Amino acid sequence: MSTNPIKVVVVIASTRVGRLAPSVARWFTGQLGQRTDMVTDVVDLIDTPMPNDLDANAPEVVALRPRLADAEAFVLVVPEYNRSVPGPLKTLIDCYNAEWEAKPVGFVTYGLSMAGGVRAVEHLRQIFAEFHSFGMKDIVTFPRILSHFDADGDFVPDLDGCNAAAKLMLDQLGWWADALREAKDKRPYRS
Ligand SMILES: Cc1cc2nc3c(=O)[nH]c(=O)nc-3n(C[C@H](O)[C@H](O)[C@H](O)COP(=O)(O)O)c2cc1C
Repeated sequence: MSTNPIKVVVVIASTRVGRLAPSVARWFTGQLGQRTDMVTDVVDLIDTPMPNDLDANAPEVVALRPRLADAEAFVLVVPEYNRSVPGPLKTLIDCYNAEWEAKPVGFVTYGLSMAGGVRAVEHLRQIFAEFHSFGMKDIVTFPRILSHFDADGDFVPDLDGCNAAAKLMLDQLGWWADALREAKDKRPYRS
């Protein structure tokens, strides 16, 4: 196991007015911040809008590229929209290619329904297959997301359960990122 912390980019994948994503992401990055084996860079899509024409040379695409390229693993904080992924997240994914390649991806997901974002995650697994990137088996999911907020609008999930779920997913992510770091050191990845 390498001693250098794994570089994890956390993508906040909702840009909706009144979005709940920042509350979920705040809890999750708190969990990540307690680990000594990972360092975090947060990419909030509301601050990094991508062009609909997918122009690889657009200034906003160029500006974000080094941060994604540096990542050794990704975690998407992603709500389910119409049984799939939010459009701005798909546009982000479509704006890049090598930056996603051969990297592990974790998911923190939620939705209004009992499905809890699982259908968005299953679509993301298919999308990331295009890059030889792959999703962690275990995910963090919040079904009926509004039930995890109190009357003041504070995010109050069952911490025992979700902290354990986050640890399980991050342990998997760390193992794969570390294994891939060693493999890429020996032989750079060629798709
Ligand atoms: C366009 C749209 C489609 C949605 N479709 C689903 C869905 O298929 N399943 C579900 O559980 N929740 C669905 N929801 C509810 C969202 O997952 C929920 O509102 C969540 O808070 C959205 O995340 P955000 O607040 O961070 O944007 C949908 C919401 C929107 C805006």
